[in-house]
Amino acid sequence: MDTLRLTTNESDIRRAGEIIRSGGLVAFPTETVYGLGADALNAEAVSSVYKAKGRPSDNPMIVHIAYVAALDELVAGGIHALNNDVHKLISRLWPGPLTLVLPKSDKVPDVTTGGLDTVAVRMPSNGTARSLIRMAERPIAAPSANISGRPSPTTADDVLEDMDGRIDAVIMGEMCDVGIESTVLDMTGDEPVILRPGILSKEYISDVLGREVIYDQALLEIPDEVADPGKGVADTLFRPKSPGMKYKHYAPKADVVVITGSAERFKLRARELGLEAMKQGKRAAIIDYGDDANQAAHQFFADLRELDRQGYDFILIRSMEQKGKGFSVMNRMLKSAGYDVE
Ligand code: TXA
Ligand code: MG
Repeated sequence: MDTLRLTTNESDIRRAGEIIRSGGLVAFPTETVYGLGADALNAEAVSSVYKAKGRPSDNPMIVHIAYVAALDELVAGGIHALNNDVHKLISRLWPGPLTLVLPKSDKVPDVTTGGLDTVAVRMPSNGTARSLIRMAERPIAAPSANISGRPSPTTADDVLEDMDGRIDAVIMGEMCDVGIESTVLDMTGDEPVILRPGILSKEYISDVLGREVIYDQALLEIPDEVADPGKGVADTLFRPKSPGMKYKHYAPKADVVVITGSAERFKLRARELGLEAMKQGKRAAIIDYGDDANQAAHQFFADLRELDRQGYDFILIRSMEQKGKGFSVMNRMLKSAGYDVE
């Protein structure tokens, strides 16, 4: 399949909308990362997204809308069935990098939600994304436009690196502003729960709601598949539970390690590890954003991909404080390192 390169001109976006309407796949920019879009209400189209990404089909997708009224057909009982907290979040934080998990209507196919009875919905703020949804005249299901397991793409070239020849078209927009994926907030229980941290932090959303939002417990523990008590290196960040296989997400080809502690410690350890690598004929690169979480979010995935293209074998990342946006950035850093922390 030849993958069309489209511009952000109106006529090209209209064409992209037609492709989505006819069941095709189009990658497009959002303010967070590039998405791989399909008609959310067309089960066959959504299935082909899983195929193009090499993604397990039980991992549900986010449905993107361009105006609040579009929520009505997606959620059980329609918009009026949603509680005050949900209405507050929608009016204060949409459009923007916030995904809400809500009870699903029958209209949303099971493939879109991975068989769950909830649906994840978000209204992106990116202008191109919004025109595309309007031109498509339907909600668009879109995971990040990367091969499953690789860093999410934040530029059109990064999308092509993974998806060229596998999808119908890419809208060649600008680099994404935010750089990490949206905050996923589960609004179906008694308390709002963050399932995936993003640039809209736990503290910020709690302020908006005027009540405490909590992290899903899974975000506070090292995953079973990775925990290795014998190694002991992750003790400062997590309490490892059980040994197991190494699991990677957002993984570049290079080996990645996150180094905790002071700036001074980072400098020393990075030098030691860098020299060690050199002795083995390997090239090591350093990623250090200081304490600038916005910059870190914006650049991190792009930097991982760039270092891979340059053929580095080893990437040493300076950790950030796990607070506010820093918690969300560290979530991506730790996953990319397969929780290799020292
Ligand atoms: O910023 C973003 O959210 C980007 C852009 C393209 O909008 N999209 C994105 O999609 O990151 P994806 O598929 O890579 O990640 C979706 C996340 C997954 O962790 C998935 O498990 C979760 O949202 N999710 C989707 N539907 C859910 C549901 N009904 N319940 C719980 N989690 C859900
Ligand atoms: Mg993804």
